Amino acid sequence: MTSGFKLASIASKFMPREKSMVKPRNAGMMLEVDDLVVSYGAIKALKGISFGIAKGEIVSFIGANGAGKSTLLNSIASIVEKSAGSVFFEGRNITHSKTNDIVKSGICLVPEGRRVFADLTVDENLDMGAYTIDDKKVIDARKEEMFSIFEILKARREQKAATLSGGEQQMLAIARALMSSPRLILLDEPGLGLAPLMVEAIFRIISDISKKNDVTILLVEQNAKMALKASTRAFVMESGNIVLEGSGDELLKSEKVRKAYLGE
Ligand SMILES: Nc1ncnc2c1ncn2[C@@H]1O[C@H](COP(=O)(O)OP(=O)(O)OP(=O)(O)O)[C@@H](O)[C@H]1O
Ligand SMILES: [Mg+2]
Repeated sequence: MTSGFKLASIASKFMPREKSMVKPRNAGMMLEVDDLVVSYGAIKALKGISFGIAKGEIVSFIGANGAGKSTLLNSIASIVEKSAGSVFFEGRNITHSKTNDIVKSGICLVPEGRRVFADLTVDENLDMGAYTIDDKKVIDARKEEMFSIFEILKARREQKAATLSGGEQQMLAIARALMSSPRLILLDEPGLGLAPLMVEAIFRIISDISKKNDVTILLVEQNAKMALKASTRAFVMESGNIVLEGSGDELLKSEKVRKAYLGE
């Protein structure tokens, strides 16, 4: 009698959930992340994260070292494998898409640590960012646009990236990402290791880009104050979970955030 029930419950546990039949919780948003789980062997870095981002928003995730921030961005971009959950971009299921196809679909990741091609010039780095575009005229026009946003890069265009300052390298990493005309940029710690004035400059540019270029931005950052100031909405992550959500202003005022992340 009970064995039938038992079998059914075991089967339902191991059968893949038919995702196309399940409406994601954040349906209608530009980016919909539902119950995302990522494990590195025995370590569960993301424990079932769900959120949505609307077009035009600047959304930040703040959290301590090891909270899972980079894992979140890397798994959206399929650089890290997802253990469970789903990701939809503009209504399309990209959960199991390859990184290359995700870039082509309009998402670009600027990874942690400003990874530019050190031995290539600024110009060549920007060319690398345009690898999904065939038309040289489009690439050149895009480059000029980048030089108007990041004026310092224009003066350094023939210089090897290795010779740029940390802030200039971060600008180059962002400019390179913008070369593919993404509609969503994933930014991993744009302020990491930069002097306060440079962090401010970078965040000003991020806000400008979002407004002028119609780009939606999802960023993760340890510099909570700067990130929250620049964001329309923000999430606090702790050990692979979202523990708090609100507008940038709300979180700046939250006692928990002030104590834990703003050092007040
Ligand atoms: N490749 C990996 N193999 C094993 N464990 C990993 C790997 N990458 C990350 N982790 C672990 O997963 C957890 C989340 O790491 P993650 O890099 O996402 O954190 P983070 O919030 O970006 O931290 P930080 O602010 O230091 O950049 C950590 O416990 C980390 O040690
Ligand atoms: Mg990180």
